[in-house]
Amino acid sequence: MAPIGVFDSGYGGLTILKDIVNLLPEYDYLYLGDNARAPYGTRSFDIVYGYTLQAVKYLFSQGCSLVILACNTASAKALRTIQQRDLINIDPQRRVLGVIRPTAECLSQYTKTGVIGVLGTPGTIRSHSYDMEIAKLYPEYHVFSHACPMWVPLVEYGEADKPGADYFVQKDVEALLTQSPDIDTIVLACTHYPHLYDKIRKFVPQHIQVICQGDIVAHSTKDYLHRHPEMESKCSKSGTVQLLTTEDSTKFGEMASLFLGTCHSAKHIIL
Ligand code: DGL
Repeated sequence: MAPIGVFDSGYGGLTILKDIVNLLPEYDYLYLGDNARAPYGTRSFDIVYGYTLQAVKYLFSQGCSLVILACNTASAKALRTIQQRDLINIDPQRRVLGVIRPTAECLSQYTKTGVIGVLGTPGTIRSHSYDMEIAKLYPEYHVFSHACPMWVPLVEYGEADKPGADYFVQKDVEALLTQSPDIDTIVLACTHYPHLYDKIRKFVPQHIQVICQGDIVAHSTKDYLHRHPEMESKCSKSGTVQLLTTEDSTKFGEMASLFLGTCHSAKHIIL
């Protein structure tokens, strides 16, 4: 038995981890943030795939049987290849899940017009992963998307709640909304973006829903464990959260305590 692995390029996935832990507090979690090589959002397919595979292998080496890619960019660029090509060679009994499919699945609970807006990193938007996943599930929906390259740095550098962030948030929200007057649901398809939620809400008309992924991924994890008792039985249950980072562990611990709302320390690792 071992913890559930949760991976992100840096701090962003902590927004997902927080909701998973809130919903499923009995399990153990091992979170890995590849802060030394973040951001992933502007990197090529091959680089994101290579980095993500290394991280997944590391979490497997720590015993994790289930790893959640709590990063849209990694889910968009690496998940499919890891699931379809790598797992069979590494260990067919282990599983890697992403955040895009569960988010796409729940859209029918939100939209009435079937016109969806997606905001994400350049990597996620250019991959068209959301367009493809939504088209598979809801072929009648229309998807409009826009990349927000400045939003992750605003969060990483602690500028998310500062007045300067308004400029970029307003600019990018308008760039999305001018693509269609019928958008009634916006997906924040990047784990960092919930930190900009209040600002985003300021520039999005009230009738449009803005979806964060934490709760969605938490419920899909619960559902997955329920449907897969053979995996559930491999997940240890002592209610602990361990944090790993490829960058400075003191800074990561401080940031994580802020993100998670409780005091945490982190350990440095090299991938
Ligand atoms: N956490 C990543 C995501 O959800 C964004 C951060 C990055 O660019 O590394 O897409």
